[in-house]
Amino acid sequence: AGPRLALTPPMGWNSWNAWGLAVDEEKVVASAKTIVDKGLRDHGWASVNIDDGWEISTRDGVPLREADGRIKVNGKFPDMARLGRRLHDLGLKFGIYSSPGPATCGGYAGSYQNEASDARSYASWGVDYLKYDWCSYSTIAKNLDSPEELKKPFALMNEALQKVDRDIVYSLCQYGMGKVWEWGDQVGGQLWRTTGDISDSWDSMSKIGFSQVEGAPFAGPGHWNDPDMLVVGWVGWGPKLHPSRLTPDEQYTHLSLWSLLSAPLLIGCDLPRLDAFTLNLLTNDEVLAVDQDRLGKQATLRLKQGDFQIWVKELADGGRAIGVFNLGSETTAYTLDLKALGLAGSRTLRDLWRQKDVKVRTFKVPAHGVMLLKAKAAKSGQL
Ligand code: DGJ
Repeated sequence: AGPRLALTPPMGWNSWNAWGLAVDEEKVVASAKTIVDKGLRDHGWASVNIDDGWEISTRDGVPLREADGRIKVNGKFPDMARLGRRLHDLGLKFGIYSSPGPATCGGYAGSYQNEASDARSYASWGVDYLKYDWCSYSTIAKNLDSPEELKKPFALMNEALQKVDRDIVYSLCQYGMGKVWEWGDQVGGQLWRTTGDISDSWDSMSKIGFSQVEGAPFAGPGHWNDPDMLVVGWVGWGPKLHPSRLTPDEQYTHLSLWSLLSAPLLIGCDLPRLDAFTLNLLTNDEVLAVDQDRLGKQATLRLKQGDFQIWVKELADGGRAIGVFNLGSETTAYTLDLKALGLAGSRTLRDLWRQKDVKVRTFKVPAHGVMLLKAKAAKSGQL
């Protein structure tokens, strides 16, 4: 077995939610530079991932591959090895995207029957991360109810990745079909999407986030459930870019919940347009530490009371991260009953967003908002 990758959930940026198919090298580099200039890299945001749209298009009416089988890039990405070097020179990692089908969802060349060649190209470009998106593989798969059929294309690319001399984090994207969390690591995945695509609405984000229950036992170092990208900052696909429609409190909920869930954290916005609020949201180390905790346990839903949901995550130092979420549309006071959560022995409670210890146990939680706490273990280590 090779080295284990993604021992904590990957963190970085992905082009899709901001740029869709309009992504190009300049936009990717501008995002990478912002990650460095705004200090995001130093908070762990390391991977810069191109999503769909870099390959030659199946609509271009030209062969998709060179005579030797190598995949062609389109004019927006003239030199992938150069882009890889630029990202590495900035101290960042390089992520790329493909599909196991003949075409990607956006109609660009996929890797079908060219897996080994593509893996070699990625390695030669310095790629560190591959998102492999089901898309047109539906035209190849014979039976979507068969777990073997669902696994096959991912196992095939995994074999190809294992043969190249480069560590490439492998992100499976097939929207949760066939309970992928139960077998994603068997086909070499370090992470796998659990649902369809997220969008920047409370309905979409909360439906995805608060439904992440079944996969929890399958998360851990090197294998993560992926509830999709962060919809904060300017999102919405190129010409229609707009600030996230999530309210500030909904964005605190988004980051808190994703951190409790040990989710990969991939910013999906136009980074050069980053505002102070979003930058603050993404650089709170006490919150990020919950996501990156080395124990790698995914939080579970512990209590449901009226509009409130209480999610608890066990941490490596014996403490617990607690999310007190108000899913209702009114600011409401909530009194935390540590005994009911089996945490009666906790010595101190810390408010992680405000980075302050708190003495009270009753909190006013805004509509769609959160109180994210850490219960530190007592000296005895008992909670
Ligand atoms: C579907 C995926 O779920 C999205 O995240 C994105 O990668 C698009 N396909 C790209 O076409």
